[in-house]
Amino acid sequence: MSKIVLASGNKGKLKEFSELLNDMQVELVPQSALNVPEADETGLTFVENAIIKARNACVHTGLPAIADDSGIEVDALNGAPGIYSARYSGVNASDHANLQALLDAMVDKKDRTARYQCVIVYMRHAEDPTPLVCQASWEGSLLKQAKGDGGFGYDPIFWVEENNCTSAELSPQQKHAISHRGKAIRQFLKQFQQEYQPS
Ligand code: IMP
Repeated sequence: MSKIVLASGNKGKLKEFSELLNDMQVELVPQSALNVPEADETGLTFVENAIIKARNACVHTGLPAIADDSGIEVDALNGAPGIYSARYSGVNASDHANLQALLDAMVDKKDRTARYQCVIVYMRHAEDPTPLVCQASWEGSLLKQAKGDGGFGYDPIFWVEENNCTSAELSPQQKHAISHRGKAIRQFLKQFQQEYQPS
């Protein structure tokens, strides 16, 4: 079975990726298992950062790599925290600190609409000039206090209208079916199987 490196160190994302990519006829190896150093996310867009992370994993392993860059965009904050979602309250901030920083920033805001964004990139090698790029979003709104203990990151305050609960109250399967990452991964699987795994 061929190997692909998963260029992420985020435990919540690794769990979701492994569950969603279960059906792929490839062995997915987390970059931590191959001693790949974290890339500096110097891009200004999700797609740039996903490419930076995938390329970094290819460079250090010589293997193809999948990376995602994701985050939450809040309309009342002009799209913040966006690409800075993982470091909203500082470098190496905990999920809890980031969530609290977002609640603080939203304290007096009436418009509470927000969406998660996810970009997935697959690169065959470090110089791949045509990475496979898949992008998806998930609309919701922000509560004023946390509810639920599933998921990760901002899930306890991300209200999902159609399920009448936060994304932290969804089962992993329910979340995968409608989330930004679930949708982007399904796009990715379809294209990967068509373009890179001809039967
Ligand atoms: P990245 O690892 O640089 O892509 O940062 C992603 C960050 O966005 C995470 O650390 C979370 O703060 C947030 N995020 C992305 N996807 C989700 C999700 O599905 N639930 C909750 N938070 C998420």
